[in-house]
Amino acid sequence: MRAHLGRRYRLSASHRLFSESLSDAENQNVYGKCANPHGHGHNYTVEVIVGGEIDNATGMVMDLAQLDGCVSREVLEPFDHANLNTLECFREVVPTTENLVIEIRKRLESTLPRKMTLGVRVEETSNNFFEYYEEPIP
Ligand code: NI
Repeated sequence: MRAHLGRRYRLSASHRLFSESLSDAENQNVYGKCANPHGHGHNYTVEVIVGGEIDNATGMVMDLAQLDGCVSREVLEPFDHANLNTLECFREVVPTTENLVIEIRKRLESTLPRKMTLGVRVEETSNNFFEYYEEPIP
């Protein structure tokens, strides 16, 4: 039998929404105050949802400590208290939360111990959230 396990993490980071492929006026028009040169911060909530077979011996989909280790190493250490715009992965990609979700997924995907489904959901504010799933999570 398969099941999904979700775990919530907190991440504080700053960003500036600004696209090199748009003019200053267009950036202002698209991103408004989020394009201000000094950027702004968010306290993101990152939810990671892994799906897989329930192990017969342990009764678990994945060991929580192992998941925490992957998320700490791949996501929290590089991103927490960082200015996202300065990171290599956002050098040519606007650090919107859509793109943050994709980047987090990419980083976690390669570290999971065996074939599992992976969903990532990031809450930017209490009103906005962004999600990426490889396949629908039931
Ligand atoms: Ni923002």
